[in-house]
Amino acid sequence: MQDITGEPAVGHGAADTAGTGRLLESLTRTGLSVLAGSDPSLRKLAERELSRQRAQLNLVAASSPPSPDVLAAQALGLSALTAEGYPGRRYHPGTEVIDAVERLAIERAKLLFGADHANVQPLSGSAANLAVLFGLLEPGDSVLSMELSHGGHLSHAARPASTTKHFGAAYYRLGADGTLDLDHVREQARAVRPAVLMCGGSAYPRTIDFPSFRAVADEVGALLIGDISHISGLVATGIHPTPFPYCDLVTTSTYKQLRGPHGGLVLRGPGSRVPGGKLDTWVFPGFQGTPDFGMVAAKAAALGNALRPAFAVAMERVARFAGLFADAFTARGLRLVTGGTDTHMVLVDLSDGSATGRTVSRVLEQIGILANKNLIPNDPRPASETSGLRIGTNHLAFMDVDDQDVSRLARGIADLVAELSRGGGADRHPGCPALHRLEEHAAAVVSAGHRADFAEGVPAP
Ligand SMILES: Cc1ncc(COP(=O)(O)O)c(C=O)c1O
Repeated sequence: MQDITGEPAVGHGAADTAGTGRLLESLTRTGLSVLAGSDPSLRKLAERELSRQRAQLNLVAASSPPSPDVLAAQALGLSALTAEGYPGRRYHPGTEVIDAVERLAIERAKLLFGADHANVQPLSGSAANLAVLFGLLEPGDSVLSMELSHGGHLSHAARPASTTKHFGAAYYRLGADGTLDLDHVREQARAVRPAVLMCGGSAYPRTIDFPSFRAVADEVGALLIGDISHISGLVATGIHPTPFPYCDLVTTSTYKQLRGPHGGLVLRGPGSRVPGGKLDTWVFPGFQGTPDFGMVAAKAAALGNALRPAFAVAMERVARFAGLFADAFTARGLRLVTGGTDTHMVLVDLSDGSATGRTVSRVLEQIGILANKNLIPNDPRPASETSGLRIGTNHLAFMDVDDQDVSRLARGIADLVAELSRGGGADRHPGCPALHRLEEHAAAVVSAGHRADFAEGVPAP
């Protein structure tokens, strides 16, 4: 496959022959040795954090393992350039090469998502959402989005965010079974008459029905924004339906499922009612100043990886592993919000037992497993405690594990939840067998490490 630069899209250098582990090792060694001479305190902290990352099993749904080329692109010093504006239209000199880097990221983003315009400058997913909302909405206009406690996101004009000082905000809630109720969304839309309707969220494990959202938006004369931050890898590989041509604009963060740097994208699809040129002015100068070109280069690397066949294989594993978690949890008697998953995420409903999201997440962390507490719809507990445990498979999919490993891990977590819910006191007795078995299995999964074939563009067998 030829890349848009005329280079082969799949690299044939060291990245394809050396193992990912070795590449990460050498990047780490270089970084730490640079710090060693100049800043031993920071070196010590960086070393501790990297050891922690290597030793713990990450099941946090909002992250994915950045590949070595993403890390390298960020470390090269490309961020040293100051240049406002867009390729060919900068306000600073010295931008010829960086223009090409930004164009590369733009073309890859368009190709990956079937977009006809991409802005790769947002410094975060939240910045992408806010740039779009401030651009689209006039004072006095309203936005309708998923309520934060039902799985929405702060940057969707949620109450605690400062956006609600500037325009109206209303929210739709999930139905009794935890799934989106489009009749309720329509009712809210008719009552609020929003200028913008938003779909997508942070803790929604099911498919987003973009055509139905568009029908609601059309009925009330609203524009539709889809935030695919959590499912961007599944969307890019066709495992989750595309938001185009239904959404006028699509936003995403780049680190959650794309294995990229922290940062955001705004995409415009065919048939959008928002001009692409206008969208660019909302990001710069509307919302941000200079882009971080190290981040833009790292986005280009991540998008390039996501175009490779191996990424589609990995995303298929992401969805299959989440399904295995859902099946094992359900078989062990745990309740799941929506009853299951279509994505990378499972949200366990702990409202029945005495264990809270906070307790379970804390005990899991003690044995080296990271999974976050999360509110569930109509949660009887406060956000600091919660009745939900959110589990994601983005990291696991790139590790050397098979279906049996994943199911065993899920059964172990279910047994621990059951023990804690019964008030079994596993948190106070680290010798408890359920805890011990799970700890051993998690450690075995972690020591198996990353799969070089997924990280380096070699299609898996
Ligand atoms: C749906 C959704 N949109 C946007 C964001 C914000 O992304 P960032 O952390 O890059 O600001 C998040 C992050 O949690 C999210 O879940």
